[in-house]
This record gives sequence, C-alpha cells and structure tokens, in this order.
Amino acid sequence: GLTVHTDPNALRRVTKAMRGGGRRVTLVPTMGALHDGHRELMRRARSIPGSSTVVSIFVNPRQFGPTEDFDRYPRAFEADLEMCREEGVELVFAPDVDTMYPPGFATSIDPGPIGDELEGAARPGHFAGMLTVVNKLLAIVVPDVVFFGEKDYQQLTLIRRMVHDLDVDVHVVGVPTVRERDGMARSSRNAYLTPEQREQAVTISAALSAGQYAGEQGPAAVVAAAREVLSAEPALEVDYVELRDPELGPAPSIGDARLLIAARLGATRLIDNAHVSVT
Ligand code: PAJ
Repeated sequence: GLTVHTDPNALRRVTKAMRGGGRRVTLVPTMGALHDGHRELMRRARSIPGSSTVVSIFVNPRQFGPTEDFDRYPRAFEADLEMCREEGVELVFAPDVDTMYPPGFATSIDPGPIGDELEGAARPGHFAGMLTVVNKLLAIVVPDVVFFGEKDYQQLTLIRRMVHDLDVDVHVVGVPTVRERDGMARSSRNAYLTPEQREQAVTISAALSAGQYAGEQGPAAVVAAAREVLSAEPALEVDYVELRDPELGPAPSIGDARLLIAARLGATRLIDNAHVSVT
C-alpha cells in the first residue's frame, strides 16, 4: 500500500526503520503533475533490489522567480497518487510550503559558477532554490539512491556537484530523457502548449538530432546545425544553443559533449539536451 506523509519527522522515522531493517531506501523528487518521465524514474527506483521507494511531491516556491509560473504550475495530486500506486511506490512525501519553509528560514545552498550560466542566467536564484530543497529532501529521507532525469541536465550536474562537494552519502542516478513519439521531451510544462505550439515545439528535439549528426564535423558544426533547424520555426524564440563538456565546462574539441537548448514558445519556456560525440 501507499502511505502519504506531510510531516518530515514522521517520514524520517519510517525510512530510518526501513534502513534499520536492512531495506534500501530510494527517492524520486518531483513537483507533481506526474508524466511518463517521472514514471520511468519510479521504475528505475523500484528496480533496486530490496528497496522501498519514496516519491516527493512538492512544488518548491524557492526555485521559481517572482514572475514565473509557481501559481499556475500544474497540480494533479490524486492522479499523481494513482501513478505512484501503479508503480509500487510505498511512500509519498507531500509537505506544505510552511512546513518546508517556516518563518525564519534563512539558509540556502550556493550552486557555484555553473549556477549562473545557461538556465541560471535566465532564472536567477533558480538553482539555489532547487539545491536547497533537494538537500532538505535528502536530509529528511536519507535515501541510499536518488533519481533525477537527464531532461534537466544542468540540474542533474549541479546535484552531482553538491553531493560530491558537501559529502552527502547518497548515490545519484541520472535517467535518460523519456520522449514522445515525435521526439519531444516529456515535461509537466508541455501542458501549457496549444496544439499548434506543441507541433512547433518538436523543432527543439529535431535540432538536437541535427546537432548529434554533425558531431563528426567538429563542435562549431554541431551548434550551427542545431541553430539552422531552430531558425526554420519562427515561433520559437531561442534563448541559447550551447555545446559543453559533460560537466558543463567549455566544449571539448573532441570526445563526449552535451548540446543544450532553451527556447520560448509564447510564454512557455522549454529546455532539452542531448549527448553528442564530437569526433
Ligand atoms: P520535476 O520537473 O517534477 O521533475 C522531477 C524529476 O523528473 C527531475 O529529476 C526531472 O529531470 C525528471 N524528468 C522530467 N521530465 C523527464 C523526462 N521527460 N524524462 C526523464 N526524466 C524527466 O525537477 C524537478 O521537478 C525539481 O527541480 C525537483 C528536483 C523536484 C526539486 O524541486
């Protein structure tokens, strides 16, 4: 069965008892409005032998800017619980905002220089808010393994960095991006798109594919190929197209690299990324 906890201390007691009883604890942090991308994270978590899985559902206000979509972010709690039940999740953690951030709350995690680049340049404070809540979730649940999607590649990179730098005793697993049949990455924010915008949005994953194919012509060709595909869709306002190394440092001239794209369709900001092999 599935138990929903809103009290961090009650959940902490349960996961502590599980670990004491020899079970491993796995954690899938989410903001709800669960889709097949989240489902894949749950399946990876469930596949760890002898493990019990916690899914957290918390729309974290501290990672949204003042003009961003916190208030209209999709919320679908009952459907979310249904998916958790389907996937054999034992525990859901769904705290209130006031529980996570009581009056006087003041501490936050500084993501370091990468936190100001790419998404961080467009969304000041976003990654500090994200790392702060992820750190709290890790401290409450104390999982053996925690799962994040490659869809939010910079987020995954910064979480790995934080876990390493701050000596957090958890194994971080990155899960490949789950896509729609046409290649579009699944995202809770896709719900904002009109049918017309949804068709236009596929240009982003098509641009990533074009970049991947250009890998054998060097790093500059990768970015040029992706930009050319994007420029064919005038409704897309491109924020960045960048090739970086896998840790998001400067792009390598040869070897493994990551191509990252952010673009807006109307008021909706979309991000996607892919591995590129530069040869
Ligand atoms: P959210 O956007 O709900 O995403 C929860 C997790 O699902 C993240 O690790 C994200 O990368 C992953 N995910 C989303 N779409 C995916 C897809 N198409 N394929 C694979 N994984 C996908 O990311 C957050 O919430 C928050 O920032 C959070 C980490 C919960 C902290 O508040």
